[in-house]
Amino acid sequence: MTIQEIIKNAPKAELHLHIEGSFEPELMFEIAQRNKVSIPYKNIEEVKNAYKFDCLQDFLDIYYAGAGVLLHEIDFYDLTMAYFAKCHENNVIHTEIMFDPQTHTHRGVPFETVITGIHKAQKVAEEKWGISSLLIMSYLRHLSEEDAFVTLEQSLPFKHLIAAVGLDSSELGNPPSKFKNVFEASIKEGYIPLAHAGEEGPSDYVWEALDILNIHRIDHGNNSLSDAKLIKRLVEENIALTVCPLSNSALKVVDDLKNHPLKTMLNHNLKATINSDDPAYFGGYMNDNFLAIQEALDLSIADIQTLIRNGFEHSFSEKKVVFLEKTKAYFSPFLNNLK
Ligand code: ADE
Ligand code: ZN
Repeated sequence: MTIQEIIKNAPKAELHLHIEGSFEPELMFEIAQRNKVSIPYKNIEEVKNAYKFDCLQDFLDIYYAGAGVLLHEIDFYDLTMAYFAKCHENNVIHTEIMFDPQTHTHRGVPFETVITGIHKAQKVAEEKWGISSLLIMSYLRHLSEEDAFVTLEQSLPFKHLIAAVGLDSSELGNPPSKFKNVFEASIKEGYIPLAHAGEEGPSDYVWEALDILNIHRIDHGNNSLSDAKLIKRLVEENIALTVCPLSNSALKVVDDLKNHPLKTMLNHNLKATINSDDPAYFGGYMNDNFLAIQEALDLSIADIQTLIRNGFEHSFSEKKVVFLEKTKAYFSPFLNNLK
């Protein structure tokens, strides 16, 4: 088997995926039409042409506009089912899905509509394909902490459906410390704290996410590499980084995938994982991300196994041990053959 086939067939966990970022243009058109909402594109071609970004904010403006056609429970269900179908194609057997309630509640869509649609799809995906999943409710960091508190309050009747809280959107100028109190309150409610940090923001933001928000995993974290003390801390505390290669390339976090810091992360023994972030916008799902970064950095089968193992190891799944055994069994013939 080639390394590409090994990657495609391997069981995988995805830990960094925004459900609104999996909104493919075809489905966006379909839902816009049935909801009679206008979008500023005539056809799929025009949508795809608009997906050229110079930075995170360029992308976020288009991403929030796209999510504006989602109105009803069925829309959130269809969106989530389409993502699960991609998981099935990509052999993703466990996924931890972020959703941005404020993107919808600010347009008058009730929290309940969003979470019920997503949750129904989670149940169907488990029954139909055996895919396990959990939800991460992300606060939008360009909005106020007070607004995040409103979202926390709205989430409480659905607490049993949500595992963790995250922090996403425009990073620069919106440090983790801005959300100290709402993260404290979220932890008290039983949510696991996570945050995007060090994507465009400095390593200081990663320190803040650790020290002030008490996060268990860093989303992205690329800029941690500029700080040797921080690397040591992340390794010692076994904090994983959810790395997103095609996203980093599309948003110009890296100038070229060949210069991506993933290999350096692995060399430092940082617990890096591979993820797709917003696959409909950045050119690919899990397998595309693995294939692109494998080629760019000439990763070995052992590197691929490490990345996949890290994904399961740093998931919040109750089936983690089973997943890790499955990974070991899957890779053992390939690694033995190399010796
Ligand atoms: N929301 C969706 N994708 C994001 C990303 N890559 N960074 C910050 N916020 C996001
Ligand atoms: Zn993200």
